[in-house]
Amino acid sequence: MIITDARILENGVLVKKDILIIGGKIKKIAQGIDSDEKIINAEGLIAIPGIIDSHVHFRDFEQKYKEDFFTGSCAAAAGGITSVLDMPNNKPPVLSVDDLNKKRELAKKSVVNYGFYFGTDGNNIPEIKKAKNIAAVKVYMERTTGNLAVENVENVFKNCKRIAVHAEGKNVSKAIELAKKYNNYLYLCHISTKEEIEIIKREKSNKIFAEATPHHLFLKSNNTPFCLMKPELKSAADVKALWDGIDLGIIDTIGSDHAPHAVEEKKSGGCYGIPGVETLLPLLLNAINEKRLTLKKVIQLCCENPVRIFGIKNKGFLKEGYDADIVLVDINRIKEVKNSGLFTKCKWSPFDGMKLRGWPVMTIVNGNVVFDNGKINDIKGKKVVFSR
Ligand code: NCD
Ligand code: ZN
Ligand code: ZN
Ligand code: ZN
Repeated sequence: MIITDARILENGVLVKKDILIIGGKIKKIAQGIDSDEKIINAEGLIAIPGIIDSHVHFRDFEQKYKEDFFTGSCAAAAGGITSVLDMPNNKPPVLSVDDLNKKRELAKKSVVNYGFYFGTDGNNIPEIKKAKNIAAVKVYMERTTGNLAVENVENVFKNCKRIAVHAEGKNVSKAIELAKKYNNYLYLCHISTKEEIEIIKREKSNKIFAEATPHHLFLKSNNTPFCLMKPELKSAADVKALWDGIDLGIIDTIGSDHAPHAVEEKKSGGCYGIPGVETLLPLLLNAINEKRLTLKKVIQLCCENPVRIFGIKNKGFLKEGYDADIVLVDINRIKEVKNSGLFTKCKWSPFDGMKLRGWPVMTIVNGNVVFDNGKINDIKGKKVVFSR
């Protein structure tokens, strides 16, 4: 197919181009391409690389009542996300190659591309060493959903090269110290405080990366059980530090930490996590309209940096030869987030009722139109390939 008259970002300015897609890849990007392919007229829309969400919990297994790979991926596609990296705190957790293979089977339901983190209890090093094509090993240094908090953290740093952590406060320092000692690549999930930003600012290197979530950027701390999450929502000063962290390049990525739970579970309290794949990009586009971000920055945070950090092959850029993972965005479209319109199985969002300007209207995954103006086409995604 051919996308005609899309505006794409080139050297910081939007220029009108056609994008020719053949065999799931971007074949050519130019002005006025002549072709007999099926035309998608993108007049008035902006084309950006598909969003790569480096932090989702698509549940499934014994928690498929919360979300499964089909519903989670439909929600992702509706939010302009074309690839997700899924966390291992499942029930049962992903601690062995056998567990991971079971998850790979479940993920075949996904309409977006998928990659996985491997879990650890601190003692499954032989299994980790056998695992192939994973994003990183996820180390929980705090208690959160799944009760995977690891005692013997050092053993994991000593034996694994690429590590993602759920660390808060002092544990951020501890993770960084261990990463320096054992020369790891370290991905710090959902950074949420000024203090953490200051630590990372001091220790930043080409092997230490930090993620922020939309909820820590856009929600105010409150006491409703629906907004119970790990890390919890923080003060206005912390929120400001996160935004400064984005401006200064201390924050490398925005990950949704899409962590769905059923409405009844949330109401009864003590249940950490909120859904987020459908609102990540709209919130960022709205922030562009409010001049808090630039489109260039959003593409860096959500496409280019995940590719660089995790070594993802053939994605993250609108370039000839790359996978045709593309989102068409209407930067002026105004729409309200509504629980009833969501694709996530849990059917609620902490952003319900928020009117946002800037929405994805079409999501193309491997050259297939998977989300088209409110409708999902059930065409399956592929595994993400890590090139290392
Ligand atoms: C996540 C979940 O429910 O899986 N919950 C959360 O509050 N963020 C786990 C996590 O990322 O810590
Ligand atoms: Zn976490
Ligand atoms: Zn998480
Ligand atoms: Zn929970």
